[in-house]
Amino acid sequence: MRVYVLNGPNLGRLGTRQVDVYGVTSYADLVNLCVDTGRELGLDVVVRQTDAEHELLGWLHEAADEEAAVVLNPAAWSHYSIAVRDACAMLRGPLVEVHISNIHAREEFRHHSVVSAVATGVICGLGVDGYRLALHHLAARRDAGA
Ligand code: DQA
Repeated sequence: MRVYVLNGPNLGRLGTRQVDVYGVTSYADLVNLCVDTGRELGLDVVVRQTDAEHELLGWLHEAADEEAAVVLNPAAWSHYSIAVRDACAMLRGPLVEVHISNIHAREEFRHHSVVSAVATGVICGLGVDGYRLALHHLAARRDAGA
């Protein structure tokens, strides 16, 4: 089963970006964590990051066409991009929204995600472990035939 792990703006800077908020795991480490977890679970994991909204939209369209599962950290777009939400609403496989930080414990403008209402589920505040947990959930759904 193919799973796209898609990351929005500034997540390519993980490891040096606000380490007090996002931790010291680098983006390269995050990619390895997702690929290794996928290998363990028998998932074909493709990890991507972009700072360009149109690129993320294209990847979401691709995932929709393939009926693939998606783990998405929309980053700042979570809070205002109706275009990202609309592309998520077109997905035909499950969508797990992940945030590394607890967006509810931060500035008020981060408390609402426009994506959450069209996601299958949301994980936030568990650090990069949220990605691992999201992949385990998707493998469990596959095993349950869901
Ligand atoms: C984030 C939280 C967002 O508010 C922020 O803009 C990000 C990362 C997270 O993973 O905690 O870039 O999505």
